[in-house]
Amino acid sequence: MIKVKTLVAGLMLSALPLQAQTPIYLDDNQPIESRVEDALSRMTVEEKVALTHAQSKFCSPGVARLGIPEFWMTDGPHGIRPEVLWDEWEQAGWTNDSCVAYPALTCLAATWSPEMSYLYGKSIGEEARYRNKTVILGPGVNIYRTPLNGRNFEYMGEDPYLASRMVVPYVQGVQENGVAACVKHYALNNHEANRHTTNVIVDDRALYEIYLPAFKAAVQEGKTWTIMGSYNQYKGQHGCHNQYLLNDILKGEWGFDGAVVSDWGGTHDTNQAITNGLDMEFGSWTDGLSNGASNAYDNYYLAMPYLQRIQSGQVGTAELDDKARRILRLAFRTNMNRNRPYGSMRSPEHYAAARKIGEEGIVLLQNNNQVLPIITTNQPRIAVIGENAVKMMTVGGGSSSLKVQREVSPLDGIRQRAAGQAEVLYARGYVGDASGEYNGVVTGQNLNDIRSAEELLAEAVQLASGVDYVIFVGGLNKSKHQDCEDSDRTGLELPYNQDAVISALARANKNLIVVNVSGNAVAMPWVKEVPAIVQAWFLGSEAGNSLASVLFGDVNPSGKLPFTFPARLVDVPAHQLGEYPGTPDEYGIYQQNYNEGIFVGYRWTDKQKKVKPLFPFGHGLSYTTFAYGKPKADSKTMSPYGQLTITVPIKNTGSREGQEVVQLYISDKKSSLPRPVKELKAFNKVSLQPGEEKEITFTIDKESLCFFDDARHEWVAEPGQFEAIVAASAGDVRGVVPFALD
Ligand code: GLC
Repeated sequence: MIKVKTLVAGLMLSALPLQAQTPIYLDDNQPIESRVEDALSRMTVEEKVALTHAQSKFCSPGVARLGIPEFWMTDGPHGIRPEVLWDEWEQAGWTNDSCVAYPALTCLAATWSPEMSYLYGKSIGEEARYRNKTVILGPGVNIYRTPLNGRNFEYMGEDPYLASRMVVPYVQGVQENGVAACVKHYALNNHEANRHTTNVIVDDRALYEIYLPAFKAAVQEGKTWTIMGSYNQYKGQHGCHNQYLLNDILKGEWGFDGAVVSDWGGTHDTNQAITNGLDMEFGSWTDGLSNGASNAYDNYYLAMPYLQRIQSGQVGTAELDDKARRILRLAFRTNMNRNRPYGSMRSPEHYAAARKIGEEGIVLLQNNNQVLPIITTNQPRIAVIGENAVKMMTVGGGSSSLKVQREVSPLDGIRQRAAGQAEVLYARGYVGDASGEYNGVVTGQNLNDIRSAEELLAEAVQLASGVDYVIFVGGLNKSKHQDCEDSDRTGLELPYNQDAVISALARANKNLIVVNVSGNAVAMPWVKEVPAIVQAWFLGSEAGNSLASVLFGDVNPSGKLPFTFPARLVDVPAHQLGEYPGTPDEYGIYQQNYNEGIFVGYRWTDKQKKVKPLFPFGHGLSYTTFAYGKPKADSKTMSPYGQLTITVPIKNTGSREGQEVVQLYISDKKSSLPRPVKELKAFNKVSLQPGEEKEITFTIDKESLCFFDDARHEWVAEPGQFEAIVAASAGDVRGVVPFALD
């Protein structure tokens, strides 16, 4: 019986017109791994090698013969970079590639809001998708170890837990658009000085407890599809082909199944590039910003040199197939995923997102005599002083530089917000950097001013003397050494004589508000003379609107510092104990010992008896006030595989709605290895109406109590006494709950 049936079935099938069987790799309904294997089986060695390196400044080949598209990379973490010429850094001059600039990632971190992070990733991912990009080269999560690091504005602060919680939603938001995130710079790229020739020496505890967690979260929770290797070396191998970081940890311990992309110019050796975990080589022989050998693509380390090693039998193709699999997996997750959305560009929603993230990230550092918010009931006169009130900030700073459709300056934002309610006057106050160009993108502003510093100061003081409010907008400006890639700051002080201007203005008017635009802490010798201080970040296209909303009280500030604001540079362990920036050894390599180990940021501050920071990690004021009740634990002990729930009531005791970030730190009272006094392990941003009270609940488990035991190479939580510390900042503890781990 069966034979007959089979025969009949066979006859029926053969009678049908032969469906052109869709190859598995082209069939969206097939599992990605099947598509990877099918595509791989159809490729030649030459085609596989071609996948592993660039063919232009920002793209690498697919497999034209098989209909596998090219891979297009784009900077950056804050917006989609304008198209550049095929083989140049110079922008191509297209007229359809301007973008929305979102606030710098340090501002995003300062929101302490995973919801804002998702909104950010979704919005920027839509713009990358609309521009048909495969990979967006961001976000960056290198830990803020020194306030001189030129790229801290692109990263998420000093604490590994905060950075971990904030990077995951960004990656998820981006990748929902079928665009890959590329979390960077993996790893230990914590300053820009000598970034290509620095070898970082750091103990495993600091590596695992401080510098890796945000990358690990991006991989294991965010499921990032690509990671970018760093320029610096670790254990003598460049981050872009590093056995320890890429093979042992990233792909081994963490199970990363995506592709490792080199930083531009970060590849230096074919053999290491083959065996030490690099998958896609970009930008070789460039400094990642400007100069570089053109059209060297066939000579890339993973190009002809690689092919020749294979053809001569020097190396096999096992590594090549692994690279190709990872790159094909990237293709099927992005370019060859027919179900991905189409994206959008410069939409009202994107501008609204940029504005809201800015409003949620601005930090009110000080507000003596309640100078803020500005009251406009009696038609006040407002003087705005400072170059940063007018200077465009979206052009410059390195690879994160953008060509925006528009950028609202602080002065414009203040003028628009105060229209009809206050008279707004302006004086330059000081001249910083009148230039405004990056890779052919020009601001079009003419900020030239030949007046002397004295004349500028006199004009500003004169104006300040006769008004109701003075708003000084200064800080840094992404010029070289002023928060800029490839150049660290040379000191903590504000540049361009700003301290003198601020002190003079403080003498001229008691209602002085200093707005510091920067991605880093700066010295504030005038902190006691100035009633109100606002930490406004590089806020992007909606800068003036975000800032004005906070200054005029339309929005109640809720940002909290994602890093410690030191009073002096010497209070920072990297500068007290470190050799930053160091001197080159006989090979021209800068050996950088991270001598402070795990004691970075508030972890260091907490150990100091006398030295206090200017403003602590997690600090940020509000226009209302909050009262914390007594925290409670649901048990006095936690079993090793159990959980502990900490609850704390919090009440808005002021007269207006506000958001508070309740922070939970854990303190291990006795440990076999040194531990910080406390470590951030949970936080909750809560909105409360006037008079409203809510109970905040934190659930912690054994993982929250662990430290990394480098001798055993594993995370351990030792039984004994702990404390759950509820705080409004690392320097403002509101309650302590002791408990024991069984
Ligand atoms: C730069 C940066 C990196 C950027 C890349 C491409 O040097 O280090 O963050 O994405 O090169 O511009």
